[in-house]
Amino acid sequence: MGFLEISNVTKSYGSTEVLHRVDIAVEEGEFLVLVGPSGCGKSTLLNMIAGLEEISSGDISINGRVMNGVHPAQRNIAMVFQSYALYPNMTVGQNITFGLEMHGVPRAERAAALADVAKLLQIETLLERKPGQLSGGQRQRVAMGRALVRNPDVFLFDEPLSNLDAKLRVDMRTEIKKLHEKLKTTMVYVTHDQIEALTLSTRIAVMYEGHVQQLGTPKEIYDTPANVFVATFMGSPAMNILPARVVVRDGRAMAQVTTSDGAQTELPFSQQTLTAWEGREILLGLRPEALTDPDGADRKSANIVPLRSRIEVTEAAGSDTFVTTTLGGRDVIARLRADAEATAGDMFDFAVNMEKAVAFDPQSETRIPGA
Ligand SMILES: Nc1ncnc2c1ncn2[C@@H]1O[C@H](COP(=O)(O)OP(=O)(O)OP(=O)(O)O)[C@@H](O)[C@H]1O
Ligand SMILES: [Mg+2]
Repeated sequence: MGFLEISNVTKSYGSTEVLHRVDIAVEEGEFLVLVGPSGCGKSTLLNMIAGLEEISSGDISINGRVMNGVHPAQRNIAMVFQSYALYPNMTVGQNITFGLEMHGVPRAERAAALADVAKLLQIETLLERKPGQLSGGQRQRVAMGRALVRNPDVFLFDEPLSNLDAKLRVDMRTEIKKLHEKLKTTMVYVTHDQIEALTLSTRIAVMYEGHVQQLGTPKEIYDTPANVFVATFMGSPAMNILPARVVVRDGRAMAQVTTSDGAQTELPFSQQTLTAWEGREILLGLRPEALTDPDGADRKSANIVPLRSRIEVTEAAGSDTFVTTTLGGRDVIARLRADAEATAGDMFDFAVNMEKAVAFDPQSETRIPGA
């Protein structure tokens, strides 16, 4: 039994079901991120946890208590919205303590709670200002402060950083992570940003079209994606997915891949389960960092394989150079060291880290078990 238990939850609007049988058990102190493209049902699920949306079927419980039908104010949760929803006519201090006042918390206690939160968020000097006199990042802190002051069982965040510029987003991401490490309160955080999901979470639920596609740690999601959707949604640039045929040489399964000039190359798998796929087509999944220049290859890998293919495009990106080549008839992206000598139009000797390769069933697009 999880601290926050979402069991068999569906949500329908009229006759349209937008969330289908969601099961997620969150342990106390976990940082769960719900991630997925626009419209996949993230906010709907979060709002059902908060009590802002009715549950069509299934149960949500917190700390052993079923929450279906319980008023939002009685759930001991605190939510931070994308819009912050601060009261413009109240000072920062009043915005933060307003909820406590509504709950009848005495003045002295409110002042003490405000002082604590203001110190934690480093907004002590802003308490007398109105929201209109704050920057976006400062407003975001105040919205956080309003949630923190309540000392809830669960924090819910719906894209709290999406109004901030890129630099501030990264800073605030770190702040939120530090805050979680300090408070150890259970958090559920919605974002469509896969980097935010990978860096903040203890576990991630990747959602698509109202289904949880995969629930796992960032490492599980990144290294062993459940299907092609998860593989290509999580990670940037996306995992390369290319058609290959399984051949077996001396008992070892190999991915036979067509290179840019039409030649066939054979890449030995580390996973032995793939011998069962002899002669069949698969989709081979290779992350850009598993396709490098030989000097950039992972030294810890026991399965680095050479591959010669033509470079079509090179793109310098500061610390790395990304190059495009064609494998299996598809454009694939390789991640080279910044000083690797790569010229568009030239043949290039790549190094493939087959220890990191994954394989998908081309029909169902799910990962082949053990691969
Ligand atoms: N009140 C409503 N009536 C009918 N359909 C709705 C309603 N609210 C949401 N939906 C539908 O439910 C689905 C899930 O919406 P939701 O807001 O949860 O998506 P989301 O993952 O949060 O997307 P975004 O990243 O754009 O915020 C969408 O298809 C949306 O159109
Ligand atoms: Mg949303």
